[in-house]
Amino acid sequence: MSWGLKNRLSRIIRPKDGHTVMLAVDHGYFLGPTRGLECIAESIVPLAPYADTLMLTRGILRSDIPNTIDTPVVLRVSGANSVLDDDLSNETIITDIDDVIRLNAAGMALSIFVGSPHQHQTIANLAKLIDLGERYGIPVIAVTAVGKDMVRDARYLALATRIAAEMGAHIVKTYYVEDDFERITSTCPVPVVMAGGKKLPEREALEMTFNAMARGASGVDMGRNIFQSDSPLGMIQAVNAVVHMGASVDDAFTIYMDEKKATGARAAAGAASDADDTRKI
Ligand code: R5P
Repeated sequence: MSWGLKNRLSRIIRPKDGHTVMLAVDHGYFLGPTRGLECIAESIVPLAPYADTLMLTRGILRSDIPNTIDTPVVLRVSGANSVLDDDLSNETIITDIDDVIRLNAAGMALSIFVGSPHQHQTIANLAKLIDLGERYGIPVIAVTAVGKDMVRDARYLALATRIAAEMGAHIVKTYYVEDDFERITSTCPVPVVMAGGKKLPEREALEMTFNAMARGASGVDMGRNIFQSDSPLGMIQAVNAVVHMGASVDDAFTIYMDEKKATGARAAAGAASDADDTRKI
């Protein structure tokens, strides 16, 4: 592994503990204006200090993220399809490596759809991207997307995850399953990060994070369970505490609740002060 690749990898996964909190906000690449991501400059930028990296498309990076940000970025570089198509697996590489370098990305993320109609194309996309990543020292995160007809169980996810690692992916992102998650993490030779999946009640999302970490994950690449929470700032701090400090579910839930209350109090104080200002006019 080249020095540059190792260095970029260490900007995604903290060398101190080998763990990472990736904040995934790339959903619009096929879903359009997803709830919670309507204006990323407003909803996501304040969360960035609590994330090890932001995962997003180059379009949103340019339009919504200040170029002074400290948080490294991982670019979503596969796509060219939409939720309106029945077969989401028909993806290609959508960002030239020159632009990835110009945008100073710490990594590139691409989906593979094992078992879907375009599985060959997406796995070939991954192999090609890894060749480019190795040439320029940029790590590749393979995302094991699950086609509509596939069963999301440990057997399937272990298959998809291992194939991604065999292609040479530096990190693999996959889903959590209650039954035999260890089968996925123990058969993958590179770090596995957990996608959050659909929005759950906050405590359940923290339990899932805790269990994934206890069962071999290196961190999360989580989206909706953070940005669709009633306290995104509370949730990202709580997830961060589980991933990096080994916080218990109870302690993490308290962090979430405390921040939710503090945010509410700040909003109330702001509204009161606005009302005062109005009286002066
Ligand atoms: C999905 O295709 C995107 O790559 C998301 O980044 C991924 O699903 C993780 O987000 P969430 O935690 O919302 O599932």
